[in-house]
Parts: sequence; structure tokens; C-alpha cells
Amino acid sequence: MRVLVIGSGAREHALVLSLRRDPAVSALYAAPGNAGIAQHAQVRPVDPSSAEAVVALATELAADLVVIGPEVPLVLGVADAVRAAGIACFGPSAAAARIEGSKAFAKDVMTAAGVRTAHSEVVDTPAELDAALDRFGPTWVVKDDGLAAGKGVVVTADRLAARDHGAELLEQGHPVLLESFLDGPEVSLFCLVDGETVVPLLPAQDHKRVGDGDTGPNTGGMGAYTPLPWLPEETVTAIVEDVVKPVAAEMVRRGCPFSGLLYAGLAIGAAGPSVVEFNCRFGDPETQAVLALLESPLGELLNATATGTLAEVAAPRWRDGSAITVVIAAENYPGRPRLGDVITGVGEGAQDDAPVLHAGTALREDGALVSSGGRVLSVVGVGADLSEARTKAYDRIATIKLPGSHYRTDIGLAAVENRIALPTQ
Ligand code: GLY
Repeated sequence: MRVLVIGSGAREHALVLSLRRDPAVSALYAAPGNAGIAQHAQVRPVDPSSAEAVVALATELAADLVVIGPEVPLVLGVADAVRAAGIACFGPSAAAARIEGSKAFAKDVMTAAGVRTAHSEVVDTPAELDAALDRFGPTWVVKDDGLAAGKGVVVTADRLAARDHGAELLEQGHPVLLESFLDGPEVSLFCLVDGETVVPLLPAQDHKRVGDGDTGPNTGGMGAYTPLPWLPEETVTAIVEDVVKPVAAEMVRRGCPFSGLLYAGLAIGAAGPSVVEFNCRFGDPETQAVLALLESPLGELLNATATGTLAEVAAPRWRDGSAITVVIAAENYPGRPRLGDVITGVGEGAQDDAPVLHAGTALREDGALVSSGGRVLSVVGVGADLSEARTKAYDRIATIKLPGSHYRTDIGLAAVENRIALPTQ
């Protein structure tokens, strides 16, 4: 099977590493990829959001399967174009990708499917914003009703900060979504979905705030771990049965069946799981940890999803133990990051239990590896338990140098210290 992965982040690096382990994958390409992905797949320049360019490349490479990593090409219909060209594609249609592309659409689907989620209102003017802020909070949750790479969300007990964020989004011409605050530990559950067939992967937990102890602004994600020792197996089953399956069925009923990876972001509250958001693709950085434990051939799972035969493949098998990923971010991220700093130490040391995945990296003309984005690297640690996985990742991080960079030191720590309690129901 000849596979083309679209995207350039650490998530795509993790997908490429996992696909490379699948003996059925005979040729592996990535576009545009990055400096790390180039070590494992042939990279080709392409604009991931150009359906024409992606189809032309997939055709030229005689790809059997195209795997689209990021949300923007999916929302723009790149998967539709690839399928229209007769090539199997892992990733939903533009119509189905609205589950992430429009939070208002996602709310509508959830209401129709009877899925518990936060109460929300969309506002379009400053006057509506002021009136709506009075009906919410504290705590206020203010979101961009579109794609914002995780950075369009402000969760705050400060009404002024909530208003400022909403007003800024409105000034940029973006409708604003206000939501009631969902309390309880958060879970990311990724499910392969092919119509009404739903296959869950291991549950993971993201760390969205930039600083230790969940402080500072929201980011695209600063680290994650899997599995979740504090989450009962029956809660995962309940999420699949009561949340993901009804939503998948509702998408089929609306004539926009979902095919690809449906990412349910949930808060586990006293009443049970409530949906914070749905995404239409693998999450970043959770994927880097989840795929580190996958034993089944990834190509087979993605191809079966893409070709409508997911129900016929065996359930994914997982390696025992735990995995974490820690993001090394550039100076000033999640603000405008400083770029062009030289990174050293990435190629050194064992890669098996602590691979270093590239996101915002580039090779300078003189061959030096330099930072080229806000989230620069994802360092993965795999161990017999979460504590060992943390040690592996943080030991590896200590060997990497990037001036001005920062990372969280507490990824997975609350779980190791048994500080995560599910609210009593
Ligand atoms: N982990 C957050 C995201 O992928 O959107």
C-alpha cells in the first residue's frame, strides 16, 4: 500500500512513524512534512489546503491511501477531492468536518443526538456579547466559532478578560460562542468512525494551558498522556455508546456520514461525560502518545476506515504500559513565537522509548536544525507505567537545547500522584 500523509506537525510525524511499522505499507510519502518526517518518508512540497495540488501529488505518486492530518484541509473539502479522483482517503468530507469547523453545527448535531454538552449561545455584535456575558459565568468560556488551533478559546473567571476576547474576535469578523463552564477532568477519546461503525482508541488527557499547574493562556496543547489510570473502563464504554455512536448515527441521518477520526473532547462531571468539543481529525499532542502504544498495523486501520470496511478489521491491540508526550515550545508561544533558533541534541540518544517528533522545525541552508513554529518538538516517553514514561520523556528533554524554549514539567503528574478524582454521581 502506497500512503501519502498530508500535514507537517508532530501528529503527522507520529502517524508516519506508526505507518512505517506496518508491513503492508510499501511506500510512504508526506507533504509538506518537516525536517523530522523527512527521515522516515519521502517529503514533497504541497499546499495542504489546495485540493488540486493534493490530488495532483497523490495521482503522481500512485497513492493507494491519502491520510489528511490537519483540520483546515478537511474543512475545505480536500478529502472530497481526493475521493472524487478515485483514491481512498482517511478524513471526513467537508460536510462532515463541520463537526469541528462550526461549533454551532456541532451543537445542533449534539442536541439532535441527545448528547450532553455545555449550554451555548452564538453572538455577532458587541451588544449581544454584553447581554450574553450576563447570562453566563463565572467562569466564562469564550470561543471563536471557527477554526483557531485551540488558541481561540479563553476560559476565565474575569468578566473583563472574557469580554475583551469576545470583542477582539468580533472585530476580526468572527462570530463568538459563549458556553457554560463544564467542570471535571477532561478526556480526549479518539474514535475511528466509518458511518455508524465506531472503534475507540485509548483515552488520553491533553494539557491545554501553557504553564505548570494549568496556568496561563490556552495553547494548541502542551502535552498529553495515555491511558488514564483514573478513568474506569465503563466510562469509556459510556462515551462510545452514549456520545460517539449517537453523533455518528445523527451524521448519517443528516446525509453527511463521518469517515475518519472523530475526536471527542469531554469533561467528566457529576452527571457523567459532557462534550466540550468535537474535532474531525487526530488530536495533537495526544496522538503522539496514543500511537506510541499501538501494536496493530495503523495502515490497515486507516485504510479500512477510508474504504468503509472498519467493521471487518480486528479491534486495535495496545502495548502494556503508558506513554506521554511533552511539547517543547518556542520563546513567547502561544503568542507570536521567536523563530530561527538553532536546536541541538535531537538526534542523540535512544529513539525507541523516547522518540523526538518534529513540528515547527526546518533545516537551514548550512544544515542546522532551526525552530520554525510555536510548538517545535514533541518528546514522547514510553514506560511500564506513567511514572517511568515521564522519566523517559523528561530525561530525553534534558539532552535537547533550544534557546528561549519552554515546556511544562507536570505532564501526567496529577495522575501519577493520584490527584485526579472523578466527581461523585
Ligand atoms: N489536543 C487539542 C487538539 O488537537 O485540538
